[in-house]
Amino acid sequence: MRRPEDPLRIAAVGDLHYDKHSRGRHQQLFTEASLKADVLVLCGDLTEYGLPQEAELLAEDLRTCARIPVAAVLGNHDFESGHPDQIRSVLEGVGVATLDGECIVLGGVGFAGVPGFGGGFGARMLNAWGEPLMKSFVQEAVDHALRLEQALARLHTPHRIALLHYAPIRATVEGENPEILPFLGSSRLEGPINRLGATAVFHGHAHNGKPEGRTSAGVPVFNVSIPVLERTQPGGPAFFLYELPPSQPSTAEPHRSG
Ligand SMILES: [Fe+2]
Ligand SMILES: [Fe+2]
Repeated sequence: MRRPEDPLRIAAVGDLHYDKHSRGRHQQLFTEASLKADVLVLCGDLTEYGLPQEAELLAEDLRTCARIPVAAVLGNHDFESGHPDQIRSVLEGVGVATLDGECIVLGGVGFAGVPGFGGGFGARMLNAWGEPLMKSFVQEAVDHALRLEQALARLHTPHRIALLHYAPIRATVEGENPEILPFLGSSRLEGPINRLGATAVFHGHAHNGKPEGRTSAGVPVFNVSIPVLERTQPGGPAFFLYELPPSQPSTAEPHRSG
């Protein structure tokens, strides 16, 4: 039983990629996370093809193994078959708070989440110029950044954690083929994280990226994609464990808004 003065332990992992053969695939991960952490966060690509049946298999494993609160964002794979709402509904059915521009307080810590989108980083970031399709592409990234900002702003907890699928900085996608870097994240997501003073950021998507970086304001960013964790934590758990210092518990939790 966690006391208020104890640090909150967050188990973070992305890119589970459940397909029709995945029944039981990550039961051990969820069981171990339940023993070692107070909250589990899932950073997108929960399914392989975005099929509700795949989400059902994940939900079943979470129902039997994860005995701690779970928050999640969807990833690009979860949109592949055009059923993100059904996937979200399946996960909500087993108590997973699936965040898309929303926030939730778990263990006195605020979590704000959006999938995020691509567009690239820094001075080379794609801008809204030229063909309508290019403007739409940029607008999608802008919309995710705005929803993240609104969700973070609604949290009044001492610690605010941002959950993403796409990366907000270039450092954690380094190692991927340079040709695909603009499709792995967007600097537009970094602005709200810096402005609202998030404590930490977790994302996935960049399977070949680096495990850790910092935003320009010094906010730690962790790439918790399973292939990254397998490379950087050989023999260790298939999740990243992050300890937050103690904070004042929320008066009414879990609380959700947005
Ligand atoms: Fe993935
Ligand atoms: Fe992805």
